[in-house]
Amino acid sequence: MNYKNYKNVTILEHPLIKHKITLLRDRNTATSEFRSLVEEIAMLEAFEALRDLPLRDQEVETPIETCMSPVIDGKKLAIVPILRAGLGMVNGIHALVPSAKVGHIGLYRDPETHEPHEYFCKLPSPIEERLVVILDPMLATGGSAVEAVNSIKERGGEHIKFMCIIAAPEGLERLAEAHPDIEIYVGNLDRCLNEQAYICPGLGDAGDRIFGTK
Ligand code: PRP
Ligand code: URA
Repeated sequence: MNYKNYKNVTILEHPLIKHKITLLRDRNTATSEFRSLVEEIAMLEAFEALRDLPLRDQEVETPIETCMSPVIDGKKLAIVPILRAGLGMVNGIHALVPSAKVGHIGLYRDPETHEPHEYFCKLPSPIEERLVVILDPMLATGGSAVEAVNSIKERGGEHIKFMCIIAAPEGLERLAEAHPDIEIYVGNLDRCLNEQAYICPGLGDAGDRIFGTK
């Protein structure tokens, strides 16, 4: 896959992101460290993904004089983690934009077909007026991400971005083709999927590693 053909895809090249992804992949990384790394990578990715966050001018009194100065209009931002693993990225974004609203989409992959099934969706309103950033560390077949974007669009979402930590070429292509109007931010593009639709080399099951459920 030549991702450069997709204008809506950004593969992040920052060395700090690459370094932390290597630590994340290590099977010996313990749950608490894994969680911290997911938060830190989300924060670093957000630096790029939130480049066009709306600003508004606010009056501020400096020790010298009063002036108008820009502040982030955080209430315009909705972050939407895909449950469960996307939850691990929320604190990283909140550290940068504490006033961001949070929606949730519950999706699980059928272990046999790998098709996504939605079991929950609650979004902050009015969703059509917000920049919506969907969070999920893993973009594997792309089924969950495509379904999450469909769901948000059906509920009125218009300005949508998707942020993941690791993507497989198959999933990235599927999402970029299905939703050419959304911007996609990826921490690393891995080699391929295996027969169980796990990303290779990947990091295993992100939800299990974040919540210690295996
Ligand atoms: C994982 C991951 C993504 C999805 C990616 O979630 O967090 O949501 O798989 O796979 P896809 O691109 O092939 O759809 P999972 O369904 O395992 O649920 P969990 O987060 O609750 O463990
Ligand atoms: N979900 C995960 O958590 N990991 C993968 O490699 C694929 C889907």
